[in-house]
Amino acid sequence: MNTEILLASLRQVVGGSNVIAGPPDGPALVVRPGTTEAVAECLKLFHAQHAPVVTLGGLTGLVHGTHTPSHYFGISTERLNKIESFDPSSRLLVVGAGTKLEAVHSFAADHDLRYGVDLGARGSCTIGGNIATNAGGNSVIRFGMTRSNVVGLEVVLSDGSILTDLRGLPKNNAGYDLNQIFIGSEGTLGIVTKALLKLSRRPAGTASVLVALNHLNSALVVMEAMERACGNSLLALEIMWSRYFEKVSTALSAETPPLPRGHPIYLLAQVEGVDNGEQAVDSLIGALESIDDIVDTALATTPVQESRLWSIRDGSDVIERAHKHVLSFDVSMRPHDYAAYIADVEARLKARVSNAIAYYFGHLADGNIHFMIGHDGHSSDARRVIEECVYDPLASYEPSSISAEHGIGREKAAHLWRSRSTAEIAAMNRIRAALDPAGILNQHISYEPKSLGARAS
Ligand code: LAC
Ligand code: ZN
Repeated sequence: MNTEILLASLRQVVGGSNVIAGPPDGPALVVRPGTTEAVAECLKLFHAQHAPVVTLGGLTGLVHGTHTPSHYFGISTERLNKIESFDPSSRLLVVGAGTKLEAVHSFAADHDLRYGVDLGARGSCTIGGNIATNAGGNSVIRFGMTRSNVVGLEVVLSDGSILTDLRGLPKNNAGYDLNQIFIGSEGTLGIVTKALLKLSRRPAGTASVLVALNHLNSALVVMEAMERACGNSLLALEIMWSRYFEKVSTALSAETPPLPRGHPIYLLAQVEGVDNGEQAVDSLIGALESIDDIVDTALATTPVQESRLWSIRDGSDVIERAHKHVLSFDVSMRPHDYAAYIADVEARLKARVSNAIAYYFGHLADGNIHFMIGHDGHSSDARRVIEECVYDPLASYEPSSISAEHGIGREKAAHLWRSRSTAEIAAMNRIRAALDPAGILNQHISYEPKSLGARAS
């Protein structure tokens, strides 16, 4: 590859000031195209040279998907950040892939609407990154994951061809649904440049409650009661175990936490009131009043009170900073298996990595637990051993998955075989080869069946 010629051509496409240095642990050079056509021109250049490419969004991913060797070229979606168009009658919004999730929320709020996907990284993560990972977040029980909220895409394939389906037809069975195949493909199949998002009516008000419990079994009782009593108005039902609650609530404020620390389990539920805020409060209180297992509650009926509760749930980055080394996990299973599985993981960690501290939290009703496991890094194979402690027992709790919502990225590729059959992995690779025959997109992420995967780990 003649790098000088390639660089000169890239500068011509995006302008000299938009060829910049890349992030740490990523490509050395990054281009920032400002239009779909410019993305296509860049990809044609990379394709012709067989140059490896990685797409960069908000860099908030948790599976190191953007950690590449430095000779890769980055394509940043930073300048594809425009709100392109909005149709109030259909409530469909076209945004550039680099638009921040929070900007979509603000736009929706200004139009008395809302967007269903929400997560703690909202201020930094981009819609393109949400699409690449099929991001879940805090309201999956109500709105589904990103794929349920995106109704159209514009995507550039590695050879520079542009697929545009921003039609927004509720029904269109004229051939394959090409949009869905890119959602959750983590930049391996193409680069999303625009998305058509479905907004929905904003409720008159919401209310949240933080509930303290003594047992995980009680959490399942509360979950059932809330689902029965609140139905569609239940927006979120999240869980935090004691160690997580204590660490994050302590770091976030010097003031007293909304509930005392030290209870074994905390649930955080949010409910909407369609016509007025009191409906939300009434339905929360109604759902909880007959449940004997509840030890304590903190009700939040104003946005300020709600954000105080939610900052603890959204504050997992406190833990990232609390230990020298932190590994983050995102497993999926049926909620009634949590108790036995977590006890199993704790026992294995205690026996094998004595300095490891595991913080548990997650999306109770989605069957999705996150672990952040801090360790001192003194043992050179700590990561491999901790991964085994978390992943080996999963096989006893079927159905389960090594990745509920964070994706595979670089970090979990060697474990893909634990959650996908050899035939499934082969089909994924055939789709990948068909859409990116030169194999330039995210070469550093390879989907391997068990024998290779086991060796790579
Ligand atoms: C969360 C991220 C870690 O749920 O997925 O906070
Ligand atoms: Zn999560």
